[in-house]
Amino acid sequence: MAVRPQQLLRAEIADLRSYHVADARGLIKLDAMENPYGWPESLRKQWLGVLEQAALNRYPDSRAGQLREDFCKAFSVPAGVQLMFGNGSDELIQLLVLSIAKPGACILTVTPSFSMYRLIAQFIGVRVIEVPLAADSFALQVDRICTAIRENDPAVVFLDCPNNPTGVLWPQQQIEQIVQQSQGLVVIDEAYSPFASRTMMPLVERYSNVLMLRTLSKMGLAGLRLGCLLGAGQWLEEFDKLRLPYNVNVLTQLSASFALENISVLDEQAGRICEQREQLLTAMHAIKNIRVFPSEANFVLFRTLDVSADTVFHRLLEHKVLIKNVADGLLLENCLRVTVGKEEENRTFLDALQGALA
Ligand SMILES: Cc1ncc(COP(=O)(O)O)c(C=O)c1O
Repeated sequence: MAVRPQQLLRAEIADLRSYHVADARGLIKLDAMENPYGWPESLRKQWLGVLEQAALNRYPDSRAGQLREDFCKAFSVPAGVQLMFGNGSDELIQLLVLSIAKPGACILTVTPSFSMYRLIAQFIGVRVIEVPLAADSFALQVDRICTAIRENDPAVVFLDCPNNPTGVLWPQQQIEQIVQQSQGLVVIDEAYSPFASRTMMPLVERYSNVLMLRTLSKMGLAGLRLGCLLGAGQWLEEFDKLRLPYNVNVLTQLSASFALENISVLDEQAGRICEQREQLLTAMHAIKNIRVFPSEANFVLFRTLDVSADTVFHRLLEHKVLIKNVADGLLLENCLRVTVGKEEENRTFLDALQGALA
């Protein structure tokens, strides 16, 4: 007799739903914090020339040696800080949680924050402690976090700096307080660092229990899937035992190396996105019936005041504009998140938003 999935699978898997990705065909896509700009034609041609040399018949360099060098140079990784690449930061988060998944172990994060910390822990079967941010300012409640750390002794604390979906970048001194309280690891996830005014990299050098996540996704290479975990060798050598040997493919290694050799193009695009963000924020502040939150990332969080977020989301879709409805999260009542797009995309969004709020 055929066995049914529920008979074989762990109960927590049966209870989960697959990660939902909206179908964006034919829409102005402002939902996933992607960089809206492509590369100049001449750069694309050079890149295709690089890909021509790819040895697709061979396994990739498991250590990604060339990419390692290019990454350290492009991001001025301090000497002594080690790195490990993943198929996006998502894979590295999974690997971190897998490595600490002893019976009774837990992780801690704040809410709202990047949903994958919680989802991954759930499917691995690790308990998640979630400490709410302060309502409306989305500030860290450091005392509550420190109490939760003392009471639960989490193996890993995940903090996204800037925070997704609020765009807030918390003060380094608060992160440091949390680090000093932690007996376990503190992972500072800087996915949005290309758009932020500062980095917390000095903490990785200062504290042996601080790790950092970076990704190329938000700066313009979401399709490549390349994330990086940075930290002390004593930790990365352990995590490397869990990494599947060829997790970063040949095309990603070559393309990412090429992009990092031309990092000035990506930096210039990040600068343009920050300018667009400021224009978008100014225009949104002038719209009645919404509350707009400040952002150090490539997206803006806002709250609808008179019409529900759900209604606004669907009205925007009718105008072919796709943003993210985050209104179901704690502290996010009637909140929506829009990615900063090109100038004309932002204008279309603003017009559609005004119509949707009417
Ligand atoms: C805070 C944060 N970290 C990591 C990621 C995912 O990065 P990657 O594309 O490298 O898996 C996201 C994506 O939205 C994010 O918001």
